[in-house]
Amino acid sequence: MNNEISPPESGTLIYHLRDVIKTRESEGVAFRLNVPSLQIGQGEKIALIGESGCGKSTLLDMLSFILQPSEVGSFRFRPKHSDEKKKKKNDDESLDIKRYWDRGKQNYLGDLRRHHIGYVMQTGGLLPYLSVRDNINLSRHVLGMKNDDSVEQLAKELGIHHHLNKLPENLSTGERQRVAIGRALAHNPSIVIADEPTASVDPFAAEKIMSLFLELVEEMHITVIVASHAWQHIKRLELRRLSHHTRRSEDGSVTETVVKG
Ligand SMILES: Nc1ncnc2c1ncn2[C@@H]1O[C@H](COP(=O)(O)OP(=O)(O)O)[C@@H](O)[C@H]1O
Ligand SMILES: [Mg+2]
Repeated sequence: MNNEISPPESGTLIYHLRDVIKTRESEGVAFRLNVPSLQIGQGEKIALIGESGCGKSTLLDMLSFILQPSEVGSFRFRPKHSDEKKKKKNDDESLDIKRYWDRGKQNYLGDLRRHHIGYVMQTGGLLPYLSVRDNINLSRHVLGMKNDDSVEQLAKELGIHHHLNKLPENLSTGERQRVAIGRALAHNPSIVIADEPTASVDPFAAEKIMSLFLELVEEMHITVIVASHAWQHIKRLELRRLSHHTRRSEDGSVTETVVKG
């Protein structure tokens, strides 16, 4: 697979992983995701493209600390908003995520996720009983952030401003995905992770939503990782594509994926 854009050589890395492995088993079939080395620079736009079952969600869930790897050499994360006190003490502000996993600090990892990561799911994951406004505001609300005009601003940029008082059920699939994107960005995270965010939208709307999404993250200086099974939709958007190779069983299902960062 080709990499049109090179990985970062220097500068600030948001993720730095070495020898991270996750093994999973479903219905007696074993799968192994192997990440020998992965470096993602702050502000990078990354695409993770591959067929269903090759481990995209597995990788994204580890990067958002939802899923604990089976083995870790090193797993460091450096959020955008640095803690000024720590900065004075220590130049290397990256956090040793492996240590938190080793010590079972799931609550801390959950806090870290809520503060620094925005997540867009394939089908949005909006709360049906909350208005569009409250859905977008949710990522701010759980952090106790003050109400300002950021929800309205985002809604305007996403072209859903006139839907703010509606419930999600009154919106089209594409509009709901725009709301999901708004929610993932509203708390100004360090990184947004989008797992097939436009898979349920028609191709025309998908491309429009994706370019809007990438414009917004660039404007906000947010790093982004997008997983997709369809390279066609996003190949014009100048993302760095993570390459990988797969090993398969006789029936064709993927048994191992090695990601090359
Ligand atoms: N919750 C789970 N428990 C066990 N195995 C899983 C689970 N989720 C996914 N898998 C397996 O992990 C492999 C990779 O899946 P996944 O990361 O969902 O791939 P993708 O997102 O690329 O479609 C598959 O073999 C899948 O069956
Ligand atoms: Mg998936």
